[in-house]
Amino acid sequence: MVKITDFLKLKGKASATAGGGAQEAAVEKKSETVKPNFSSPQNALEQGSNPLDIIAPKQIEVDFDYLRINNVYLRTLFITGYPRFVSPGWLEQVINFNASLDISFFIYPVEGKGVLDDLMRKVAEMEAEIYTDLERGKIVDPATQAKLDDAKLLQQELVKGAEHFFQFGFYITIRAADVEQLNYISKQVEATLGSLLIGQRHATLDMDNGFLSTAPLGLDRLSITRNMDTTSLATTFPLTSTELSGDTGVLYGINPQNGSFIIFDRFSLENANMTIFATSGAGKSYFVKLESLRSLMLGTEVIAIDPEGEYKSLCSAVDGQHIEFSFSSPSKINPFDLAQVYEKGESHLGLKILSLHSLFKVIMGEITPIQEALLDRAIVMTYKSKGITQDPDTQTKEPPLMEDLYKILIGMETPDALDLAARIEKFVKGSFVGIFDQQTNVSIENPFTVFGIKELQDALRPIAMFIILDFIWTRVKKDLKPRLLVVDEAWHMMRYKDSAQFLWSVVKRARKYFLGLTTITQDVDDFLAQDIGKAIVTNSALRALFKQSPAAIDKVGDVFYLSQGERNLLLGANVGEGIFFAGANHTPISVVSSPAEHKLMTTKPQEVIAQEEASKETEPGVAAKMVGEITQ
Ligand SMILES: Nc1ncnc2c1ncn2[C@@H]1O[C@H](COP(=O)(O)OP(=O)(O)O)[C@@H](O)[C@H]1O
Ligand SMILES: [Mg+2]
Repeated sequence: MVKITDFLKLKGKASATAGGGAQEAAVEKKSETVKPNFSSPQNALEQGSNPLDIIAPKQIEVDFDYLRINNVYLRTLFITGYPRFVSPGWLEQVINFNASLDISFFIYPVEGKGVLDDLMRKVAEMEAEIYTDLERGKIVDPATQAKLDDAKLLQQELVKGAEHFFQFGFYITIRAADVEQLNYISKQVEATLGSLLIGQRHATLDMDNGFLSTAPLGLDRLSITRNMDTTSLATTFPLTSTELSGDTGVLYGINPQNGSFIIFDRFSLENANMTIFATSGAGKSYFVKLESLRSLMLGTEVIAIDPEGEYKSLCSAVDGQHIEFSFSSPSKINPFDLAQVYEKGESHLGLKILSLHSLFKVIMGEITPIQEALLDRAIVMTYKSKGITQDPDTQTKEPPLMEDLYKILIGMETPDALDLAARIEKFVKGSFVGIFDQQTNVSIENPFTVFGIKELQDALRPIAMFIILDFIWTRVKKDLKPRLLVVDEAWHMMRYKDSAQFLWSVVKRARKYFLGLTTITQDVDDFLAQDIGKAIVTNSALRALFKQSPAAIDKVGDVFYLSQGERNLLLGANVGEGIFFAGANHTPISVVSSPAEHKLMTTKPQEVIAQEEASKETEPGVAAKMVGEITQ
């Protein structure tokens, strides 16, 4: 909350009754000018008319309470008083008013010395008033006391140079097609201002000057100002989207209602997580890729798990690292891998066993409590067979492989253990051999790293996402820096309780490790039907909704507390349009990109083919160079 200095009239001209010098002169000022009518501007010029006459309106009528220019009725209001306390962006209701208003601000810096003298006099006056009241045994007027406190505070700030002093003029001109409509809109504007505790008056008998003062001419013909200090003045800055315009961070989009920028620093919120929901093709991945590219420029690293192969061209354009997982690719991750960066005295085994336990439940499907206990024992034994125990010193040894667990399970010889072994057999000698059964040979070294799993079959995706996420998570924890971790098509992981649980555990703990986790999903119903899905949403300070299907809108509406209007907006949204939530605020958003950015983001087949053909004609490396230019 910021206080508005509203208690003293330094120049004696700011009161509503004084209303500027023009009023005294304006006695019954009603006139009408009628312009000669020519058939065409060309014709008029030929007849020797002055060009100014040609562009000027045909008629201007200056009434005492409105101005009519041709058929448009205008009325100017000026602001006479402000509330004592306001919060930033408080003028938003006026700026976003549902009718066309011309608003002008005039800000005049006032020299500190004169203000201080006036303040001193004012303080003395108020102190004298209080003193006299006390002497006479009267109760001191609380309003005077409050003003005195404010004045003293301001005095201190001005002396220290922490605040400067300004005169602030604020005029609003309303337009309408007739007088009735003008009166109607005026009433609404007055009510809105009233609800903000802003005092206003009509610029009665001075409507022509009111009009000129709100035209984009920089002319203050009304000269009706109030005093403001720097902080109060800053709160009147008009282009804020309910606190979504920060001065640091990246551009997320534009608020289509008032054209203001939505600039935001994820890491300034209570957590940096983001969830994105929309139907397929609504612009989710595009939005995230755009954010990634822009975040890279600010030194934030980005890691993405990409099930659709959509991040490839962006990755190569920024010279990122693309790690593809398929049966034929050389990249391997061993799920038994312990954090490579070894810290003396720290045991990673306990946590690792927990996450392996969840992973194997995803791989194996339903298992009985007895089998769970067996599995736990088998994992511990597998590590032991490689000499790795809870003793941190043993944890630098080469970790076991899937095959070792398989052998241990077979060696247990009970039917339950053999059943478990059978369920992982396909990873050791069956159709899934070749990806997760060898020692890890990839590492995250690049500021932009993409893990592609497009080539994997559907059943393997949740497992692959789990293993990759676990791998990334152990690396991220070791070396703190601002990072975004994108899990595209996150609903794959929500299909199984244990992988969903793992995703949730990352969401919950990301903040501590300077990580912002972005979960993108098109399967809203599935995601929000689970408690974990809802918990992920509540633990994401940033949320974006793009186009929704009629089937999903009710669930989304309930989880996000959307009004009917907002639900309709999402149902009818175009590509890249939606609602953006940051903390407790939300605003409509339209995601915009530059042509160079669009080239890297788009996955539309027509556009991709056109680009490929164009790049065949130009030399290779041009795209990389171009991106270099953008990212600099
Ligand atoms: N903000 C946008 N501006 C222009 N085109 C967009 C925008 N968002 C999406 N598109 C187009 O729509 C296509 C599909 O968007 P995408 O983000 O891949 O959808 P999905 O929501 O399924 O991830 C993109 O390849 C791109 O061509
Ligand atoms: Mg997508």
